[in-house]
Amino acid sequence: MALRIAAALGILLVLALVGVLGWAWWDSRLPDTYNVMDYGSHDYGGAAEHGAHHAAAVSVASLKGPQAGKPDVHFELMARPTTIRLASGHEVDGLAFNDRSPGPELRVRQGDLVEVRLRNEGVDGGVSIHWHGVDVPNAEDGVAGVTQDAVMPGGSYTYRFRAEQVGTFWYHTHQSSADEVRRGLFGPLVIEPQKPRGAVDVVALAHDFDGIQTLNGNERTTRLEVAAGSPVRLRLINTNNTPARFTVAGTPFRVVAIDGTELNEPQPLENTRLILAGGGRYDIGFTMPSSPVGLGIEDTTAVLALSPDGRADAPPPTPGAEFDPAAYGRPAPTPFDARRHFDREFEFDIGRKPGFMDGKPGMHWTINGGIYPDVPVFVVDRGDLVKVTIENNTDSVHPMHLHGHHALVLTRDEQPVSGSPWWTDTLSVEPNERYELAFRADNPGLWMDHCHNLRHAVEGLTMHVAYTGVQTPFTVGGGAHNHPE
Ligand code: C2O
Ligand code: CU
Repeated sequence: MALRIAAALGILLVLALVGVLGWAWWDSRLPDTYNVMDYGSHDYGGAAEHGAHHAAAVSVASLKGPQAGKPDVHFELMARPTTIRLASGHEVDGLAFNDRSPGPELRVRQGDLVEVRLRNEGVDGGVSIHWHGVDVPNAEDGVAGVTQDAVMPGGSYTYRFRAEQVGTFWYHTHQSSADEVRRGLFGPLVIEPQKPRGAVDVVALAHDFDGIQTLNGNERTTRLEVAAGSPVRLRLINTNNTPARFTVAGTPFRVVAIDGTELNEPQPLENTRLILAGGGRYDIGFTMPSSPVGLGIEDTTAVLALSPDGRADAPPPTPGAEFDPAAYGRPAPTPFDARRHFDREFEFDIGRKPGFMDGKPGMHWTINGGIYPDVPVFVVDRGDLVKVTIENNTDSVHPMHLHGHHALVLTRDEQPVSGSPWWTDTLSVEPNERYELAFRADNPGLWMDHCHNLRHAVEGLTMHVAYTGVQTPFTVGGGAHNHPE
């Protein structure tokens, strides 16, 4: 008798467990088509919900750049599959803008009205263009399923925006971005100041093609002729998912800008490693000596060799300490700081736990304890001063990227930033690190905030910052084939 009861109880327990797991599985499945606003829970960052119900609804599609006027610069970017040939002859079956990867370097002047027409001539999965680090109006942000529909083969889309920020940026597809960026759909974007600086100005874009590290698409030495005494600016861009480790040999140098923003009074550095977040940018500056200078990626053959006759090899690097952006340069006034009153304060805790994501069991990334799409939407009002505390409780580094805004780093592990003001759009958050960031909500829209290890974004490290009253008519999945990650 007792045995039978025990057996019956056992069966009930198993059934209950199966039921709970089954429900968790069922509940985690995403529908074929959904609106990103309908998922997760709205987090008001400690402010009252009020505005939400009174503000008239605005569609992201109406938040466009200037529509009238002749553009100062016009570019055509055509996306299609192509064979990318590296310097060694190694061929990569890739995707490219204008048949090369990196795609063409877009250089414009501050104040220019920029117009870019994107055409898709055969990327079956669809494409879009996101202007990484440029705080464009929302409809120009290029996120498939959030700010536009993916451009399918035969289709086109025109982006227009005013280049207001000076600095180093890049562009890339934001449709199936983990796959399509890896395969080659990206390129550099430089916004020069109105008065040219008169420096030798060169982009150094790192990308890993099929496991081969390249600089500007070359996995070997790229030689450049630079006259001794010339001021030089190198614009380091990391388009990879993981950090790029740059070395500079043959000259002292300064890090003059981070993520497009100039630093205040940067000091000279020597033998310092520059570890750049996936998606991040550093500009470095120096005066060309009469001997060669090398900019390389550590432990690879990819290097830029600068020399007065353009024929020398790069000197070998002797890398020492790591560059620390939190204690570099000198303080300067900022529009706000840690002592200010914040209209909204959000927590962004990155974790990992077992569970289901879209029906798939496994160890999944979590944001504030929830597995995607059970993640927060940070709701802000236009004009709010917003604080975000990011905490990484995982063993992986996460380069966190907020679209449409630049954030001021306030503290790292409770320590205030002691050097130059440090503005970022792509922040490398190491395991167990905790950052406090602040930004002004001055660009209405619906903005992605995600990990720029794009694999992690696919795996659920994605959420949105939503302005009160802004809605999107676009949906993820479904007939429009939108897959932003
Ligand atoms: Cu460069 Cu949402 O990404
Ligand atoms: Cu990540």
